[in-house]
Amino acid sequence: MSKKVTVVGAGFYGSTTALRLAEYDIFDEVVLTDIVEGKPEGLALDMNQSRSIEGFETKIIGATTTAEGAGYEKTANSDVVVITAGLPRKPGMSRMDLIGVNAGIVRGVAENIAKHSPNAVIIVVSNPLDEMTALAQIATNFPKHRVMGQAGMLDTARFTNFVAEKLGVPVASVKTLTLGSHGDTMVPVPSRCTVNGAPLSEKLSQGEIDELVDRTRNGGAEVVALLKTGSAYYAPSAAAARMAKAVIEDSGAVMPVCAWVDGEYGISGVYLGVEAEIGKTGIRKVVESKLTDSEVASLKEAAEAVRAKQADVQTL
Ligand code: NAI
Ligand code: 2OP
Repeated sequence: MSKKVTVVGAGFYGSTTALRLAEYDIFDEVVLTDIVEGKPEGLALDMNQSRSIEGFETKIIGATTTAEGAGYEKTANSDVVVITAGLPRKPGMSRMDLIGVNAGIVRGVAENIAKHSPNAVIIVVSNPLDEMTALAQIATNFPKHRVMGQAGMLDTARFTNFVAEKLGVPVASVKTLTLGSHGDTMVPVPSRCTVNGAPLSEKLSQGEIDELVDRTRNGGAEVVALLKTGSAYYAPSAAAARMAKAVIEDSGAVMPVCAWVDGEYGISGVYLGVEAEIGKTGIRKVVESKLTDSEVASLKEAAEAVRAKQADVQTL
C-alpha cells in the first residue's frame, strides 16, 4: 500500500523534516506545504533533484495552501502528518509567548488535515508544544492516541549530547531520558541515565549532573540566543522524522513523546511528555517505568502546569 506523509509548514523545521523523511526512502510521497506561495514547490523541486545523488526514490510534492483550505487536496489520505506551521521564538521569548498566534495557525491546519486525511496519525511540533498538541486533538477530534507531540525525543537527545561531551565518550554509549513538558517543567530523569550501562551518578557529581540538566532545560533557548533569528531545527527534525518512521513502520519503538496520559504515574487527562510505544495507530500505549519519588513528583508538577494551559487552548 502506498505510504504518504505530509509536513505542514516549509520553514526550517518543516523542510529539514521533509528531506529527512524522503531520504529514509520508506515513503512513496512526502508532501510539504506552506502558505507562502511557491516556497513548498520550490523546496520540493530542489529536494527531488537531490534524489539521484543521495539515492532515494521517494517523491517530494510541494503544495501552497491557504488558511481557508485551498491546496490541501494534495495532502489527502496521508498516513502521517507532521505539523510544524507557526512562528518560532526570538531571543528572550519563551515558548509560551507564541501561544496566541500559533493556536490560530495550528487550529486551522488541524481542521483542514482532519477533512482531507481523516485516518492520519498527527505529530505536532509547533510551540508551545504540549498546548498545541492538545489543541490539534481538539480541532481534529481524532482519538487521542492518534495525536502526539514531539519534544521528549529532542530534549533527551540534547541531554545525551551534553553528557557525552562532558565525559568525552561516544553518544552511543550514553542513555538519558527527559519527560514532562517542553518548557520550564521539563523533567530530566537522572535515575534512568547511564554511560556504558553504569549509572550516570557514578560518572558525574550531583553538581555536574544538575548543570547538564539545567543546560538541557534551556537547550532550545541556548540555540535561539546564538542564532538570533529562528530556533533549532536539525535535532528537532531528526526527532520528528524518527517518530513518523516508527508510525509508518508500525515498529513499536518506545520513545519519549508528548502523549495523552490516562492514569499512568497517577496522572490523568492531560497531554504530557512520557515514554510511549509508537506504531501505525499512533500511541499504542504509554510505558510507565520505575522513577524515583522525586522524579514522579516533578512529573506531577509538570502535569499540573500544562493542564492549566491546555484548558486555555480550548478557547483559542
Ligand atoms: P519557520 O519560521 O522557519 O517556519 C514556519 C513556517 O510555517 C513558515 O514557512 C510559515 O510560512 C509557515 N506557516 C505559517 N502558517 C502556516 C499555515 N497556516 N499553514 C502552513 N504553513 C504555515 O519556523 P521553524 O523553525 O520551522 O519552527 C516551526 C515551529 O516549530 C515553531 O513554532 C517552533 O517554535 C517549533 N519548534 C518546536 C520544537 C519542538 O521540539 N517541539 C523545536 C523547534 C521548533
Ligand atoms: C527548541 O527546543 C524552540 O522548542 C524549540 O529548540
